[in-house]
Amino acid sequence: MKSFTPDPTRSTDLRRALGQFGTGVALITAQTGEGPLGMTANSFSSVSLDPPLVLWSAARSSKRHDAFAAASAFCIHVLSADQIDVANHFAAQGHDFSPYAVEEGPNGAPTLHGCLATFHCDTYAVHRAGDHSIILGQITAAATQPEERDGLLFKRGRFGRFTPDP
Ligand SMILES: Cc1cc2nc3c(=O)[nH]c(=O)nc-3n(C[C@H](O)[C@H](O)[C@H](O)COP(=O)(O)O)c2cc1C
Repeated sequence: MKSFTPDPTRSTDLRRALGQFGTGVALITAQTGEGPLGMTANSFSSVSLDPPLVLWSAARSSKRHDAFAAASAFCIHVLSADQIDVANHFAAQGHDFSPYAVEEGPNGAPTLHGCLATFHCDTYAVHRAGDHSIILGQITAAATQPEERDGLLFKRGRFGRFTPDP
């Protein structure tokens, strides 16, 4: 076990340690002053059931940060294991939705078809937190796929899928 004290010169070590924690992968979308915007994010987390709150965190260094932080609503899409292309597409850029079937969600955010679950949120609070902003949303509508499908997972910088214990 390699021990270290987190500091900016050890960000690689800290990233490696944090990368041991596997997550799902989400696409966050919002309707913004610059049009529809998307971003791949693995910082999504549920927060509260009553009221129903979720969060994700956006890097302040991102070109898309200010538009997401200012948006009054957003949509979280839980990606399936066969949507790596969606994750890579919206990691690379945020404005081109042309490859995908999209409709306007109840809160105005672009909503992709075929995801495992979608959570339509009104922005509840935005908290500055170091080099990120924590964006909290109150879920106003949600949808989930009726059939069981594998989710897209992310761990140690790689995509993968869940293998249940036998
Ligand atoms: C699996 C994965 C998870 C990511 N999670 C986040 C995240 O939670 N927050 C974030 O700000 N960026 C996250 N990113 C990075 C953004 O998707 C995107 O690549 C980055 O914002 C690009 O910089 P730009 O917005 O300046 O174009 C993630 C990227 C990948 C591939």
